[in-house]
Amino acid sequence: MFLKELQLFNFKNHESARFVFSDKINAITGNNGAGKTNVLDAIYMLANAKSYYNSIDQQIIQFDKDFFTVTGKFEETNPFDLIINFGKDTKKTIKKNGKVFKRIIDHIGSIQTVFITPNDISLIYEGSEERRKFLDFTISQLDNIYLKNLVEYRKVIDQRNSFLKTNQNHFIDEVLLESYNFKLIPISRAIYQTRKHFLEEFIPFFNKAYKEISGSSENCNIKYKSKLEEIDIDVLLQQNLRNDISAQRTTDGIHKDDLEFLINEIPIRKFGSQGQIKTFVISLKIAQYEYLKSKTGNNPLLLLDDIFEKIDETRSNELMKMVCSDRFGQIFVSDTNAERVRNHFLPHGIDCKFIEI
Ligand SMILES: Nc1ncnc2c1ncn2[C@@H]1O[C@H](COP(=O)(O)OP(=O)(O)OP(=O)(O)O)[C@@H](O)[C@H]1O
Ligand SMILES: [Mg+2]
Repeated sequence: MFLKELQLFNFKNHESARFVFSDKINAITGNNGAGKTNVLDAIYMLANAKSYYNSIDQQIIQFDKDFFTVTGKFEETNPFDLIINFGKDTKKTIKKNGKVFKRIIDHIGSIQTVFITPNDISLIYEGSEERRKFLDFTISQLDNIYLKNLVEYRKVIDQRNSFLKTNQNHFIDEVLLESYNFKLIPISRAIYQTRKHFLEEFIPFFNKAYKEISGSSENCNIKYKSKLEEIDIDVLLQQNLRNDISAQRTTDGIHKDDLEFLINEIPIRKFGSQGQIKTFVISLKIAQYEYLKSKTGNNPLLLLDDIFEKIDETRSNELMKMVCSDRFGQIFVSDTNAERVRNHFLPHGIDCKFIEI
């Protein structure tokens, strides 16, 4: 499957634009602020029904306009088109071949994307939310039940937290609180088990990618950090009862899960070199690609935002060697400098389609 055509209306700085893509490598070039990243983000939006960079749909609408539309025409054995619409006064809809999805999450997972961006470094340096997002995004591309569980978990946690906030003077109706726990317990266990199982499968993909990109035999690992590794959620909620009441929120649970990234058993966040960190982050994304591909048998769409700007020559050469091989399918690269993109792809004998914006 590949994206043949993309049309944008009032999508960030693109008032009306149409792009026709090749099924292999597409280089989107132009000056800073021209809207290159926005084109990649629109492709991401087609697959995931949300922007990679901005979770507020309202802010995707072009300034002073009332709606945005993204249309994609996909080629495969059975070609199809997708239309995403969002208006100031209308909720987001996704249509496939003219038919509206009842719920947006029913569409998630039908088109896989892997987005490699300069911001990926936040996986190492930012808080645990970034790492949970990586985990949840990857699993949700393949497992709709997991995605539904996540949505339900967030809903119940919000309700439980609102309930905890309504209570004054540390008095609480514990029976009612118990009813929220009753809902949280099975969902927490399911999410925990799925994350644990996912990591067991994912780590070998990650190790392979890291070795390939770095050419080194360093021993990398990803450790799943969850309270549920130590105690069952039922016991955890009981233990935290007083804490939760006084903090007026659910202080622990799978919404606090984290990943620890290690090289030779040492946390990379504190002790990794710049080079190791860059390799680690790209390897996570390449592993994400290979993992998704292994599960679906299809090539995800690969979005490479500004990568030549940020990574050094050796690593970008390794990466180019990989992405130019048959293992990868359709690729979108953004760069301010068309010549630089040409120089990266030329040695691998691959033709790029250049789109200047
Ligand atoms: N809702 C919006 N309405 C109109 N313009 C917007 C909106 N959101 C973002 N923009 C504009 O889009 C432009 C940025 O586009 P984008 O990030 O795609 O540029 P780019 O070509 O990737 O630039 P760079 O080379 O610096 O990465 C900015 O000028 C920004 O003001
Ligand atoms: Mg950009």
